Amino acid sequence: MTPSLRLAVFGDPISHSLSPRIHGLFGRQLGIEVDYRAIRCPEDELPAKLSELAAAGGIGANLTLPLKQTGLRQCRQLDRPARLARAVNTLKLDEQGWLGFNTDGPGLVLDLERLGIALTDARILILGAGGATAGILGPLLAKKPACITVLNRTAARAAGLAERFAHLGAIAGHSLDAPAQAHDLLLQATSLGHSGTMPALPAGWLVPDARVYDLNYGQAHRPVAHWAERYGWKADSGLGMLVGQAALAFEIWTGQRPSVSAALASLDADLN
Ligand code: ATR
Repeated sequence: MTPSLRLAVFGDPISHSLSPRIHGLFGRQLGIEVDYRAIRCPEDELPAKLSELAAAGGIGANLTLPLKQTGLRQCRQLDRPARLARAVNTLKLDEQGWLGFNTDGPGLVLDLERLGIALTDARILILGAGGATAGILGPLLAKKPACITVLNRTAARAAGLAERFAHLGAIAGHSLDAPAQAHDLLLQATSLGHSGTMPALPAGWLVPDARVYDLNYGQAHRPVAHWAERYGWKADSGLGMLVGQAALAFEIWTGQRPSVSAALASLDADLN
């Protein structure tokens, strides 16, 4: 019998993580037995928890909040998306230690492609300038959009991100009340959905046939879904991004990429 692949996701809180379920689905899809556990881990315990995982035969891990920046220090090498995001969400063990990856941005791009949303030459508007936005800007700019505009309640954070990523393409950062300019795609990357609302976005920021993609999913996606419906824009939740980032992590660990659509079909009914 092939031994199962030992994997874990660390975070705090972690009990609601869908990752064990998603990686279980991937394993069944590809005939790979996985033992993927969700483990609560405060920031200061990450080195010890990773050593425990390695000692138990673990070969890979995911990191979620609040560990994505702390995790950088545990890695002897980082992939480009992780360097650009200054955060890691996927670790792989080799003979010399942990290699760090960030599949969040690539997972979003994969999902936007699955949905038929064009990025090249698109005018992309991003709401929010926190860690979620920092994680996606590199892979989005690599697709050569016409421009990316980041709007944020705290304008300085948006301007800071624009400055940090300016060497990769056309990007600007403004406050939420900046004068509107038409965009083709809205990416909602604030954490506001968790409190049941949506940042007020003045009319004029989106063209009539714009697409809306919310990095939140489940209950937290509802406010954006209702808002977009009112204006007649098609809105998608970030469940596909969650599955996409997981699929790319699974590929890093096993060399095989599972199907995002097949996993989503199993999850969708419960969560959207
Ligand atoms: P994450 O890592 O999920 O991006 P974060 O770094 O805390 O989390 O960022 C949360 C984002 O949601 C920020 O853009 C934040 O705006 P500020 O930078 O001004 O704090 C945004 N956000 C949170 N609550 C908000 C609110 N009530 N109205 C508008 N934006 C809000």
